[in-house]
Amino acid sequence: MNREAKKPRFVDRSRLRWHTNLSKLMSSPRFINGALWFWPTRFIARRQASELFDLVSGFVYSQVLSAAVKLQLFDVLKQPKTLSAVCVETGLSTTAATRLLRATTVLKLTKVLPAHHYGLGRLGNAMIGNAGLQALVAHHDMLYRDLSMPTTLFTNPGSTSLGEYWAYSRSDQSTIDQTTANEVSDYSNLMAISQPMISEQVLQSYSFSQHHSVMDVGGGTGRFLQALRQRYPTLKLGLFDLPAVSECHQDTLLNQLNIKQHRGDFLHDPLPAVSDLITLVRILHDHNDAAVMVLLNNIYRALPEHGTLLIAEPMSDGAGAERVGEAYFNVYFLAMGKGEPRSSARLKSMLLETGFTEVRVVNTPLPLLCTVMTAQKST
Ligand SMILES: C[S@@+](CC[C@H](N)C(=O)[O-])C[C@H]1O[C@@H](n2cnc3c(N)ncnc32)[C@H](O)[C@@H]1O
Repeated sequence: MNREAKKPRFVDRSRLRWHTNLSKLMSSPRFINGALWFWPTRFIARRQASELFDLVSGFVYSQVLSAAVKLQLFDVLKQPKTLSAVCVETGLSTTAATRLLRATTVLKLTKVLPAHHYGLGRLGNAMIGNAGLQALVAHHDMLYRDLSMPTTLFTNPGSTSLGEYWAYSRSDQSTIDQTTANEVSDYSNLMAISQPMISEQVLQSYSFSQHHSVMDVGGGTGRFLQALRQRYPTLKLGLFDLPAVSECHQDTLLNQLNIKQHRGDFLHDPLPAVSDLITLVRILHDHNDAAVMVLLNNIYRALPEHGTLLIAEPMSDGAGAERVGEAYFNVYFLAMGKGEPRSSARLKSMLLETGFTEVRVVNTPLPLLCTVMTAQKST
């Protein structure tokens, strides 16, 4: 549907005019200065200035966090330390450590404590003990490199660091199964280390006890299934991923956990019909619409009648996840060269188009990390 070509109705025309006039007023220097001097509007003007400045400085905040992670500042400050102890443990000069600590303190990563000590701030506490989060922060160097020329990224991304990193995003579909273990080991490790954050959300939101057998498609090194095995010891478990990824596995771990491995390309090879539940954890957003439809159809064929599909990934309409979905993931996937964040409504329509029914959105404690959706196959 070409919405632009539609002639605006009278109501739309008045709204557009109202919007244009308001924008003109709000962007006029006289109005902005006036708003700052007039106390009832001062609060609004200040908040707007601060929001805008946060957009300007966002990149700097990210780099402060990145430096803190790389210097292992959060580990250093597990116990309160003096400035000189921080210098010794991070290798920074007094001037550099002071600057870093001033920045991390206003960003709530660290805290000034009595007796000239520093400790962890509210957000620093969340970083500690979360190896996945720290690995994700370090991983962002690649995205920052790709964003060093933002207009190029939007107009003509060409080859990017993230495109190289996610081997399956740069491979065309006919060469994907020629990908080597070397090319997939970095991303497989990153996924493995960050998986506990996701599996906690899924396991808290959905009961797997109604199922006999689960196959995790694009299951990587099996960390999601490992968490599932701990909670549901009697479930039959299977994992499907690229042959190269299975070469990175600790086979012994999967064997110990009695997880059956299936190797292949889920866009080209039929999926084995071995389970009444198929899970897709952080998979669909990596692919364009056409590939998503191929995968959903493949899954539909592999499921038995009344079988279930469970999708878990960040969705752009999850509560509090809009900025992350529309601004962050949108650009991340642009740099990666494939994929896009989707809303649960969009995924629902793709599931219905495939033939799934009873599509349900299950709220998770932290939609920023993932939302869960389930759908049934009924013939
Ligand atoms: C973003 S990772 C998610 C891994 C895991 N589900 C998790 O959440 O930790 C995507 C996974 O899908 C796999 N994958 C991508 N394209 C594939 C394809 N065409 N066939 C099979 N697996 C594929 C990748 O190898 C990778 O393990």
